[in-house]
Amino acid sequence: MSAKYETQGTVAVITLDNPPVNGLGHATRVAVAEGVEKANGDPAITAIVITGGGKAFSGGADIREFGSPKAIAEPNLLSLIKVLEASRKPIVAAINGVCMGGGLELALGCHFRVASPGVAVALPEVKIGLIPGAGGTQRLPRVLGVETALNVIVSGEPVKSELLAAVPGQKLFDQIIATDLLSAAVAFAAVKGSEYASKPETLPLVRNLKVSHPNPDAYFGFARNMVKGMAKNFPAPAKCVDAVEVALKRKFDDGMVYERETFMALMLTPECKALRHAFLGERAASKIPDVPEDTPQRKIEKVAVIGAGTMGGGISMNFLNAGIPVTILETRQEALDRGVATIRKNYEAQVKKGKLKADKYEQRMALLGTTLNYADIAQADLVIEAVFEEMGVKEAVFKTLDEVMKPGAILASNTSTLDVDKIASFTQRPQDVVGLHFFSPANVMKLLEVVRGKATAKDVLATVMAIAKKIKKTAVVSGVCDGFIGNRMIEQYSRQAGFLLEEGCTPEQVDKAVEKFGFAMGPFRMGDLAGNDIGWAIRKRRYVEKPGMRYSKTADLLCEMGRYGQKTQAGWYDYVAGKRDAIPSPVVVRMIEDHRKTLGVTPRKIGDDEIVHRLVYALVNEGAKIVEEGIASKASDIDMVYLTGYGFPLHRGGPMCYADTQGLFNVVQTMKKFAANPLDDVSFWQPAPLLARLAAEGKSFT
Ligand code: NAI
Repeated sequence: MSAKYETQGTVAVITLDNPPVNGLGHATRVAVAEGVEKANGDPAITAIVITGGGKAFSGGADIREFGSPKAIAEPNLLSLIKVLEASRKPIVAAINGVCMGGGLELALGCHFRVASPGVAVALPEVKIGLIPGAGGTQRLPRVLGVETALNVIVSGEPVKSELLAAVPGQKLFDQIIATDLLSAAVAFAAVKGSEYASKPETLPLVRNLKVSHPNPDAYFGFARNMVKGMAKNFPAPAKCVDAVEVALKRKFDDGMVYERETFMALMLTPECKALRHAFLGERAASKIPDVPEDTPQRKIEKVAVIGAGTMGGGISMNFLNAGIPVTILETRQEALDRGVATIRKNYEAQVKKGKLKADKYEQRMALLGTTLNYADIAQADLVIEAVFEEMGVKEAVFKTLDEVMKPGAILASNTSTLDVDKIASFTQRPQDVVGLHFFSPANVMKLLEVVRGKATAKDVLATVMAIAKKIKKTAVVSGVCDGFIGNRMIEQYSRQAGFLLEEGCTPEQVDKAVEKFGFAMGPFRMGDLAGNDIGWAIRKRRYVEKPGMRYSKTADLLCEMGRYGQKTQAGWYDYVAGKRDAIPSPVVVRMIEDHRKTLGVTPRKIGDDEIVHRLVYALVNEGAKIVEEGIASKASDIDMVYLTGYGFPLHRGGPMCYADTQGLFNVVQTMKKFAANPLDDVSFWQPAPLLARLAAEGKSFT
């Protein structure tokens, strides 16, 4: 049973009961339809109230049924709404908490709607690449007017019920009820029951309301321009505009057909697939296969951060923003002062831009403490180390933490390359040690790689996943390996970028091709931003560890010229002081040409397609190895890392999802072609066993 039926006097109350948000899964739809039928067949009942159990009216479709036959099994939402509209007894939606997507469409199918103040009302379908599919685009303009309705539909953002109730002439809500919603709704329904008892055919239906606009052509022209600028890679927002225009210009039933056809067509687009994949991937990433959801968690009320440098400061801000006190520990007072000044500067910039209220800024700073003494952090529940990337320094810090921290404290390292198991071995409590790999700038970037050591306790993992949510990060679990998920893959991508230079490309050409594909930044602009010296240091290590691994020499030659990137105002590009614009550099182009001559390579013209596929398939092949080795527990985790940490275009869904849309058979064929290029690295393009297997079986990663 996923909706309860009971009576209060002459009113039947149907309470949606499908926790956590009363998603309109199949069992719930059946139960509502049965409830309406039962009430209509009972002479003692005069009216019906539909409300939500718990904290929500309904969050819309049940995402647990996505892609399953249950999602479309009859009665689907459209059929259920027809049942509501056909009821001979008035149906009142009593809307509490959350009313989104299909939940709002269901309410719009009722004869009346009353709501609590503060209800989050939204049609968020656009966020997964769709338009509302059960009448939302046709009914909402009829109750809110064209402009407000289009804003709600195209943004997908929640709006509070009392704000919508204040829209002049609105017919969305009959009443906003600040007292007990259900008893008021039952009383309201009883009144409507008597009022319409003798004339049920006159019960009001949203579909019959008129919709108008004083100047529709100008308005829709304007709306289209706005949307085009905002959502260039996604078709759904423009379709929202079209559907609302249809609501205005055509008959209701024609509009419903248009909405349905558009919904179905969007469902098949790669953009919609990518957005749904990202939406579900984010939820899936928070689940760790062998860590059950009811794993007990440790309390995190106080946090300590070791090191007030670039990362330590940004990491601290995350916790301050979430209202969690932080103490930063450093070796010298000057370093502390510098770190705190940077945090202040960042907050002040937000205040100046109007993104943060001055009193909030002060509240956050009041949660920040500093110290030079480990005794002051001994009682912290979580300590995150962000000191220099040297094993010796980490060893000293973790040995001290082991001595001073209270039992049960979680000891985390922000290392980007070092072995977390080794770090854990410096303590007597390796079960409490975990990697928390934030990305720079740590207060901005969404991604958090949670590095699971071989001894990391399950409750530690459960706790850090929960705290990640609290500080609004997308946490993805990675096993221990060099570079973890993200940087291990980017190394292969960078290697290909280097080979492309040797074969005939300029940095600008590679960056442009990749940016046209949708990446926020191409590999060379990215290198200049992060500092080319970081990759140089890694390569020097690789030359010793893996002498057989081939890299293009161009990046080393660049660093030998002192061109580290934006910080030296010269990298793959030239930079003007104080600006971030990348200006193609003739010096670099000459260096690359000279290097080709040394290698005896005659440059060839390389198309954008080849550039993009060599780079992206380099990610895909390494990603497949990472999944096969169990470093990532599923392919969608890899996509989440790339979408949230590496600027991979959202409309492509991440490297693994993109490979799936291309077809893994085709990916392997293309890789074979690349392997035949004598200037490339044949072994590089050997398909990873998982990729080869899936391609041969006609399967996909995600
Ligand atoms: P940084 O050089 O800006 O800051 C390190 C800070 O640690 C300095 O303020 C230093 O005074 C302090 N420190 C050094 N030894 C200490 C000790 N024994 N006790 C207390 N404080 C000490 O370095 P950054 O960039 O913040 O990196 C820190 C860690 O974060 C490294 O492990 C790095 O690999 C990692 N990381 C860096 C990223 C980046 O983009 N910069 C990205 C992700 C991780």
